[in-house]
Amino acid sequence: MTIKVAVIGCGNISQFHFSGLEKCGAEIKWVCDINREAAMPWADKFEARYSADYRDIIADPAVDAVFVTLLSRLHKEICFAAIDAGKAVICEKTLAESAEDAWEIVQYAEAKKTIFYTSYMKRFIPAVEKAKALLPELGTIISTHIRAYQCWGDLWSETPTEGFFYTPPGGMSLVRKNYGGGILVCGGSHILDLTLFLLGRPHRLYATLHEPEGSDYDLQAAALLETDNGIVHYEALAHPLTKIGFLRDGWDEKVEINGTNGRLEVYSSNWTDVETKASLLVHYDNRNGNSTEYRFAAESPFDRAVEFFCQQIEQGEQGSQSRLTGYEVDELIEHIKLSSKQKQAVEIQWKT
Ligand SMILES: NC(=O)c1ccc[n+]([C@@H]2O[C@H](COP(=O)([O-])OP(=O)(O)OC[C@H]3O[C@@H](n4cnc5c(N)ncnc54)[C@H](O)[C@@H]3O)[C@@H](O)[C@H]2O)c1
Repeated sequence: MTIKVAVIGCGNISQFHFSGLEKCGAEIKWVCDINREAAMPWADKFEARYSADYRDIIADPAVDAVFVTLLSRLHKEICFAAIDAGKAVICEKTLAESAEDAWEIVQYAEAKKTIFYTSYMKRFIPAVEKAKALLPELGTIISTHIRAYQCWGDLWSETPTEGFFYTPPGGMSLVRKNYGGGILVCGGSHILDLTLFLLGRPHRLYATLHEPEGSDYDLQAAALLETDNGIVHYEALAHPLTKIGFLRDGWDEKVEINGTNGRLEVYSSNWTDVETKASLLVHYDNRNGNSTEYRFAAESPFDRAVEFFCQQIEQGEQGSQSRLTGYEVDELIEHIKLSSKQKQAVEIQWKT
């Protein structure tokens, strides 16, 4: 692969993108982080240049694509600058802090015909890809249950007085500051993306959010979404249960799609352990009574996503993954918040 890339933001999530870039053979020209210590190990490893200022990177004509892997509140400014400079952009999720901002970003990318992806990597889990391919086998889809249950410790019985989940009086918790909110934006955004990927855009939803007293983030987001492919029962939950889930490791993420001919169940493994823990797909076919288990090898969906993005950029084509993905998820997040606040169902106002 000949494309030349830069990675802006060398924190936690960047390791997965670096891994994908290394495996697909892209040339890493620059790494950027305001924290030099976070960036230098990557600069050394890939013999890349370092800058604390993303504008240095964007100004380099040798860079084809930038990976924007820092906090969501910085995405808009950097995505706009990169699009302006004619770079292809791969941006971490969630795309922005509001649907309006996300819309402006994707509209700008569309107007400039920039190749632009929001990296929702769960679409690239082999079990999810296979489930998508098997959807026609289900007949008419009538009901889906989708959930992201993540073990965050017991934030239900006690209000934290320090650490990542502590909300100081008059201030902001780190989970909100860094990620824009609680379980809805963290784990919940991924399963909204999977809802969009597998079932299409919902047109109406009713939702409720639980935000504990004294905290500025949610621990539970539950919703009923109406789609052209039936009702979706959706829930993102931060819970204290350490040994639940199909691997009994506290990670309990599942998609179950029921149709007139059968059922698909996807059990996905914790994104931090994707190199060692594989996801599982079960297909029950009501026409012959058979249940088939698809056990895939453990493989990072980040690697597969990065390879796809780089190949598309090399070919100069946006390909099967729409520029709008990040906007669509952010629009659903906004409608979930709205419905919860209004305590009533809301029609989803897609910008288009
Ligand atoms: N796909 C997933 O499952 C997943 C999981 C976790 C996080 N994320 C997303 O990844 C993104 C980054 O999260 P993270 O956990 O890596 O955060 P992080 O805090 O670990 O890393 C962010 C990095 O950005 C750097 N930074 C901050 N401001 C900067 C600036 N102006 N210029 C250059 N560098 C700057 C920080 O020094 C830090 O090293 C977020 O959008 C988050 O939502 C995605």
